Amino acid sequence: MGKKILCVVGARPNLMKIAPVIRALKAGQDPFDVCLLHTGQHYDNAMNDQFFAALGIPRPNINLDVGSASHAVQTAEIMRRFEPVLEQEAPDAVLVVGDVNSTIACALVATKMGIKVIHVEAGLRSYDRGMPEEINRVLTDQISDILFTTERDAAANLQREGIGAERIHFVGNVMIDTLKSQLPHATPMSETLRQSGVSEAFLKGKSDYGILTLHRPSNVDDINILRSLITTAAKISETLPIIFPAHPRTRGRIESYGLMDLINAANIVLLPPQGYLEMLGLMKDARLTLTDSGGIQEETTALGVPCITLRHNTERPITVSEGTNTITGTDPQKIFAAVNNVLKTGGKSGKSPEFWDGNAAPRIAAVLHEWLGPTQQRHVA
Ligand code: UD1
Repeated sequence: MGKKILCVVGARPNLMKIAPVIRALKAGQDPFDVCLLHTGQHYDNAMNDQFFAALGIPRPNINLDVGSASHAVQTAEIMRRFEPVLEQEAPDAVLVVGDVNSTIACALVATKMGIKVIHVEAGLRSYDRGMPEEINRVLTDQISDILFTTERDAAANLQREGIGAERIHFVGNVMIDTLKSQLPHATPMSETLRQSGVSEAFLKGKSDYGILTLHRPSNVDDINILRSLITTAAKISETLPIIFPAHPRTRGRIESYGLMDLINAANIVLLPPQGYLEMLGLMKDARLTLTDSGGIQEETTALGVPCITLRHNTERPITVSEGTNTITGTDPQKIFAAVNNVLKTGGKSGKSPEFWDGNAAPRIAAVLHEWLGPTQQRHVA
C-alpha cells in the first residue's frame, strides 16, 4: 500500500472538492492509501448524503457525527473526537479542503500531533475577519505544510503572512474538476421543478429565470438585511422569475422572521436545498445568479453565467477580474443596477481562469507523490 492520506470532509461545499481529489489519489501505479473521515458538521440528506451518491464519493471510513452547534462547541467537539482517530489511523498526512469549521479543527489536531497537513484551496482572502471562514482560512494556512492554490494571487496573500513559497503550489480549482466531469449529467431545470412539485407556469411561458441563494450569517441572521434582500428579489422577480433553493439556516430565518408572505406574494419559487446535479442544471441555464456563496461565484465563472454577489467583498477576486462576477453588496440600488445591466447587455461573459481545466486534482496527486516520497518497501524478515 502507498503512503496513507486521511482526507477530511464536514460540510456540503467540501464534497465537490474532495471527490476528484480522492479519485486522483487512488489512481496510478502507486496509489495512496486513502481514508475518508466525515466530521458530521452537515448531516441532512439534502446537505450531505445525496452529494455522495451523485459525485461517486466512497462512503466515509469514519464519521465523527458532531452535528450542529455554536462555533466553539462544534470546533471543539470535532477536535476532541478527531484526536483518538488520528492516534489509531496514524496517517502520513491529513488533507483538508476549503474553509469550514471542520477544516481548521482537523488541521489543528493533526499539526499538534506532528502529522503533516495538506490544505486544498489555500490562500483565498476576503480580508473580512467578520466572516468565520476568513478566520478558518488564515489559521489553517498557517499550520499547513503544503498549500494548494486555485488562483495565482493566493500565493501573494500567503507570502504576506510569512508562508514560504516552497510550501505553495498553484494547481487550479478542484471544484471545477467536478463541474466539468458532471456537466453532461446535470438535471434539467424542468425536471428539478417537477421533482419539487412546482409548476413551470411561474415562468409565464418564457425560459428566462434567475437563481437566488443566501446562507451567510451576515445576510440571513439580521432581519433587516434579510428582509431587504428578499424585497429586492421580489421586485426583480416582476421581470425575471426567481428560483430560490434555500439552505436550512436560511429557511429557518425566513420562517422565524415572518418573511414567507413576501416570498409567496412574489414570482419566487422557494425550493429545498438541491443536490449537486440539480443545482448545476439550474445554474447552467439561468440568465443570472444572485448569491452570497463562494463556490457559486466560481461555478458561474466556469459556466459563463453572470453572477451578482450579495456581499461587500470576495475571497475569489479572479471571478471578478476574469470571470462573470459583479460584487454589489446588499444595497438594493446596486443590485437593481447590476441586474438591469445583465438583462440589457447580457452581462460579463468572462473567461475561464488558468488551470480551471478539470485537471487540478491530478496535479495535486503528482505534487504529493513527490513530496511524500515513494512507498517504502516492506521487508519481511
Ligand atoms: C457552513 C460553513 C460555510 C459554508 C456552508 C455551506 C462554517 C463556519 N461555515 O455554514 O462556510 O459555506 O457550511 O452550507 O463552517 N443545518 C441543517 N442541516 C445540516 C447542516 C446544518 O439543518 O445538515 C442547519 C442547522 O440549523 C445549523 C445551521 O444549518 O445550525 C448552520 O449549519 P453550520 O454547519 O453551523 O453552518 P452553515 O451555515 O451550514
